[in-house]
Amino acid sequence: MNVGPEAGSLRSVSEKLKVVILRDLLPAGRRSLEEHFEVTVLGLEANRQQMLSGVAGADGLVTDLTFAVDGELLDAAGPQLKVVANFGVGYDNVDLDACVERDVIVTNTPDVLTNATAELALALAMAAARDLPGAERDLREGRWGGWDPGQWRGFELSDATIGVVGAGRIGGRFLELVSGFGGERLYTARASKPDLEARLDARWVELDELLTESDLISLHAPGGPETHHMIDERAIGLLKPTAVLVNTGRGTLVDSEALARALDEGRIGAAGLDVFEGEPEVPQPLLEAPRVALAPHIGSATYRARDAMSRTVAANVIAVLSGANPPNRVV
Ligand code: GLV
Repeated sequence: MNVGPEAGSLRSVSEKLKVVILRDLLPAGRRSLEEHFEVTVLGLEANRQQMLSGVAGADGLVTDLTFAVDGELLDAAGPQLKVVANFGVGYDNVDLDACVERDVIVTNTPDVLTNATAELALALAMAAARDLPGAERDLREGRWGGWDPGQWRGFELSDATIGVVGAGRIGGRFLELVSGFGGERLYTARASKPDLEARLDARWVELDELLTESDLISLHAPGGPETHHMIDERAIGLLKPTAVLVNTGRGTLVDSEALARALDEGRIGAAGLDVFEGEPEVPQPLLEAPRVALAPHIGSATYRARDAMSRTVAANVIAVLSGANPPNRVV
């Protein structure tokens, strides 16, 4: 791994440096960390208390979206802490201000999971649009009485108007993947993206217009207070009754109860969800709602992406602890 001119000095200095992996890191990245540092893995079952005691004395922390990286955790690590390397592109689990206050650099793993996540959004869109989970459940449970022209009818994506909320890397890739369906492509984002517009013939619109016009809406906005419940009862009320809503961003983007009600009452066509409020719990109303395809937060879960994410985490930690600029600095 090329970590620049500092690499030589890293070995001698790093013998004393300590990296704590809260939960786990796949071998693709863990091995490089182990070559350079004293590495402790707290394991997938570690609870908050074990984390707080396990991080003491760490120079680097490897974290993920399943727990809060806050002032308490940073202080438990101690003032020598230099880097929090989050496994994932999202970092709404990390209190960035608390990190900045303590001069701790935060990194993430963008790019390497773009294809995987956009592909899962497409898979969920297609599964939801045709209610594959419902049809499969009926088949497995013996409710298929024979071919029936009126049964299990769903929605086609060909010629559909497809809208993306949050047209960053993943949203942009999703729009690219669906461009083969023809139809119109809309997006909403803080700033317009002339690139995307030229390349994919996509049009920037306000969120409300996107929700009103789209047959398929895919959410790719980050989590956090600004986007909390951006899809609430009011927003859902703008959707076409045949609209398919897909969320591979963060569960907090959608008011789960409002969505489940809309599905129950037939005010929305279908939904495909990979992320949930309060994971790993899945809101009961969504589990019971019709025409919904659910996945357990597996957007980036391909062999290629997860290995690359692990390597990216390692590259970020090694860079910071060797005094170099990390490739994926958030703050
Ligand atoms: C996963 O949700 C990620 O943010 O990478």
